[in-house]
Amino acid sequence: MKTLSVAILGFGTVGSGVYETIQKQQHRLQQIVGNPVQVTTIVIEHPKKHVKIAQNIHVTTDINAVITDPNIDVVFEAIVGKEPAHTYLAQCIKAGKHVITANKEMFATHGMELKDLAAAHHVNIGFDATTAGGIPIIQTIQKLLNINRIHSVQAILNGTSNYILTEMRELGTSFPNALRQAQNAGYAEADPTNDIEGYDAFYKLMILCELIFNKQPAWKTVKRTGITDIKPEMHRSQARTKQRIKHVAEIKLVNNSIHAKIEPIAIPESHPLYAIEGVNNAIHIETDIVGPLTLAGPGAGSFPTASAMLEDFCQIWKQQKSSMKTNETVLAFP
Ligand code: HSE
Repeated sequence: MKTLSVAILGFGTVGSGVYETIQKQQHRLQQIVGNPVQVTTIVIEHPKKHVKIAQNIHVTTDINAVITDPNIDVVFEAIVGKEPAHTYLAQCIKAGKHVITANKEMFATHGMELKDLAAAHHVNIGFDATTAGGIPIIQTIQKLLNINRIHSVQAILNGTSNYILTEMRELGTSFPNALRQAQNAGYAEADPTNDIEGYDAFYKLMILCELIFNKQPAWKTVKRTGITDIKPEMHRSQARTKQRIKHVAEIKLVNNSIHAKIEPIAIPESHPLYAIEGVNNAIHIETDIVGPLTLAGPGAGSFPTASAMLEDFCQIWKQQKSSMKTNETVLAFP
């Protein structure tokens, strides 16, 4: 039986979570995809730092080890920042490999181009892990909301800032202490400015926009306000009227034009985002047929993000198998 060979690019919180999950869930994975799944190559900047990787895995700094290896079927990309992630993924796609990414900044910038490139090379691209961590929002929109038209989105898309706001409100923790806790738990970006100033939520919102409306608004038209000016007394004052301050990313379609913004706002108790606490994220969408829907769950962290990437992997492989079967049928009944 063929073994599916996979490569992982980047071995931080997310890459190592993917590696551990593949090792731990080998039996389940094999039942779902029908083949053993093996990590054969890991591309990282500093190979000597990672002693936990099994001896039989090729650990290298050289992307060519992936691109030129015809046995590698799928590439998981968990690098921080746009480059070299974008160049590596384009090279992997051109080499005929399916790719799965968790890289929101890169995908917000180059997603459309990579999707087109993947289609041209008959491979799949999974990007559910780019947005809202473990919540399967991308696959839900792609696969389960076809006849519905989404006309607005309100979402909490950054686990670190939601965690900080929750700690400040519940425990009266100072902003720097709450941020430090989020960093220690592995939720925050390498540069937490991205979390607390709303850039991370912005990239995720742009990915959602492109998925839902097939286009993004001009980035400079999107208002983005972070949470750094929020003070504990503001939480106390909102609590008196049963409201909570949440960092909300929003998209609205007004006269066929997309309006997007990210800002801290007071949310009433009756709103689905009110109860979203700690590192959790949520996406509340309004559609024209089913009406309002909310998906909530862990928005950051090693295993929630690995979960999203491996769900993409299962989908890609199921799709691959069914298209192989269709081709066989076509051949059998010309
Ligand atoms: N730093 C991000 C967050 C990680 O806190 O949501 C997940 O994208």
